[in-house]
Amino acid sequence: MLKRKIGMWMYNNSGGDKIQEKLISKLRERDIEVVPELDLRFARGYKNSIICDGINILDLDLFFSYNAGEQTVAQVYMYETIDQFIPTINSFKAFALSEDKFRSNLVLHQAGVTTADFFLCHRETPQFVTEKFEEWKKMVYKPIDGWGGSGMAFLDSRQMLDALLPFINQTDIRHIYLEKFVENDFTDFRVDIVDDKFIACYGRKASAREWRTNITSGGSVILREANDEIIDVAKKASKALGMDIAGVDILYDREKEEYVVLEVNGIPAFATPEQEKIGLNFNDKKIDVIVQLIDKRTDKGS
Ligand SMILES: Nc1ncnc2c1ncn2[C@@H]1O[C@H](COP(=O)(O)OP(=O)(O)O)[C@@H](O)[C@H]1O
Ligand SMILES: [Mg+2]
Repeated sequence: MLKRKIGMWMYNNSGGDKIQEKLISKLRERDIEVVPELDLRFARGYKNSIICDGINILDLDLFFSYNAGEQTVAQVYMYETIDQFIPTINSFKAFALSEDKFRSNLVLHQAGVTTADFFLCHRETPQFVTEKFEEWKKMVYKPIDGWGGSGMAFLDSRQMLDALLPFINQTDIRHIYLEKFVENDFTDFRVDIVDDKFIACYGRKASAREWRTNITSGGSVILREANDEIIDVAKKASKALGMDIAGVDILYDREKEEYVVLEVNGIPAFATPEQEKIGLNFNDKKIDVIVQLIDKRTDKGS
């Protein structure tokens, strides 16, 4: 078999450096060489090549992009560019779709995955926002491409709604995206899927007086058993968006008594060393399945 070479850009914090080392050595066992630390932000484009760190990215057999924290507009631009020439994980298309809450929820709904009820309109037609509030009574305003629970607002009164609209008009946000509030116990499920295989299920619990479960909003990780139904929901969501790697955020709707997919993350973090200590022990399995997937995707036949 021809020697294979892939590029990698992975986060280094929270134990990411150790995960990267393991990935590299397991790939090497399969005769796949890894060029790490390729931040595409600094790549230079020529008519025959895209050079990053002295490497022509277009000559690589695959690019593994796994760094949410240091992602920039320039990096994403190059990610999209190289995706047209070499395989990327996740594919740029799936990654970009998962970054957009409105578009991904549309795709999920069409694929038969239960999401929160959602609505989008231009900020110059606020009457539709009011209409939705009258219908739902409790709703969540979200930036379409936000993360970590930031920029969101919980709305359960007209006063809150009336305060939100002038605020939005001062920003460069054009579309207003809303979700019906899902009645839940302020804990969620995170289900990791790689290559359509179940990897892990854990959860997060919101801190007191907070309705968001994100760690960055003060939430804490909790151990949670998976069940067939939730695994099925997560796999279906991952597949609908075309993700190779997915961290599916799920709430249990107490009113409707069903699982609701909130969003699908394209760069779900590995367990940190602290989280491993409390029993999140999925890292090795996740590494193995990612290695298998890269092997499969770069197979040139013998
Ligand atoms: N429609 C909703 N109903 C109830 N809670 C919600 C809803 N949307 C979001 N949340 C809460 O806010 C958190 C962050 O929302 P999410 O859509 O996952 O955005 P982010 O990308 O910022 O994590 C969720 O984990 C959940 O706890
Ligand atoms: Mg989330």
